[in-house]
Amino acid sequence: MEYIQLSNGVAMPSLGFGTYQIADLDLCEQCVLDAINAGYRMIDTAQGYYNEEAVGAALRKSPVPREELFVVTKVRFHNYEPETCRTSVMQSLEKLEVEYLDLLLLHWPFANYYAAWRELERLYREGVVRAIGVSNFHADRLVDLINYNEIAPHVNQIEAHLYCQQRVNREWMDKYQVAAMAYAPLGQARRMEMYELPQVMAPAKKYGKTPAQVMLRFLIQSGFAPIPKSVHTGRIQENGQVFDFALDEAEMAALRALDTGVAMIGNPENPTRAEASIGWK
Ligand SMILES: NC(=O)c1ccc[n+]([C@@H]2O[C@H](COP(=O)([O-])OP(=O)(O)OC[C@H]3O[C@@H](n4cnc5c(N)ncnc54)[C@H](OP(=O)(O)O)[C@@H]3O)[C@@H](O)[C@H]2O)c1
Repeated sequence: MEYIQLSNGVAMPSLGFGTYQIADLDLCEQCVLDAINAGYRMIDTAQGYYNEEAVGAALRKSPVPREELFVVTKVRFHNYEPETCRTSVMQSLEKLEVEYLDLLLLHWPFANYYAAWRELERLYREGVVRAIGVSNFHADRLVDLINYNEIAPHVNQIEAHLYCQQRVNREWMDKYQVAAMAYAPLGQARRMEMYELPQVMAPAKKYGKTPAQVMLRFLIQSGFAPIPKSVHTGRIQENGQVFDFALDEAEMAALRALDTGVAMIGNPENPTRAEASIGWK
C-alpha cells in the first residue's frame, strides 16, 4: 500500500474500498472483509449509506489490527445542526465499533455546514478523529470554509474519473494542502465505454492489467486516493492490484486529454441539485 501524507502528518492510504449502494448488511460485511483480505486498508462509508454496522462487524472480524486500518465515515447534512452533529458521530462510532475515526467528512455542502464543521474541529481536538474533511465541496465553498475557520479540511472527497478530473478544484485544494479522495473512480458504471477506450486499452495490454486497473492507476498517479466499490470478490481483488505497474508520461497525457470537466454526480453548485437536497432521505 502507498500513502498520501495529509497536512496534519497523518498517512492516508492511496486506495480505499467504497461501500455506497451496498445496502444488504451481510453482503456489505463480506465485501469489506474481502477488501481487507485483498490488501485494502481504507474503508469508506457514510451515515447515509445505512451500512456502518456492517462495516463495523467486518472490522471486528478482520485479523488486521485496528491501527493498520483507516476508517472513514461522513456526516449526513440532516445531522449538521449543533445538537445533532456530535450525537450522530457518536452513533457512527458505536455502529462502526471503533474508539476513534481516521477521517470524518461532511458529506455535502448543504444546510448548516458551518456549525457542523466547528463540531468536527472540536472532535478533532479531542482526539475522537485523526483527520477531518469535506466531500463534494467546490473550490469556492472550500476556500470560504478555510478562511473563516481554524482548521482547514485535511481531505476533500470528490467525484473523479477519466471524464471528470477536477482540474480547477485540484488547483485550489493543492494551494491549501487539501488532499484529494476520488469517489466514483470507475464512473459508477454509468459510462461503460470508458473501459474500451484505446487510451485505456493500450496500457492495459502493455502492462497486462485490466481497464479498471488502468483507470485507478491513472487517478493514483494524478494524486488522488480512489475508493472503488464492488460487490464481487474478483473485482475487489482486481481493483486492489494497482501498485505493481506505472503509467508513463505519454500514457498519462493521453488519459488526461479525456477530461470533459463535467461531473455526473457531484455537482452541488447546481441550484437544481441544491434545491432537490431538501427531499433527500
Ligand atoms: N461523497 C460522495 O458523495 C460519494 C458519492 C458516490 C460515491 N462515494 C464513495 O465512493 C465509492 C466509489 O464510488 P461508486 O461506488 O459510486 O462508483 P465506482 O466505484 O466508480 O463504480 C462502482 C461500479 O463499478 C462496478 N465495478 C467495480 N469494479 C469493477 C471492475 N473491476 N470492472 C467492471 N466494473 C466494476 C461495480 O459493479 P459491482 O459492484 O457489480 O462489481 C459498480 O457498479 C462509493 O462506494 C462510496 O464509498 C461517495
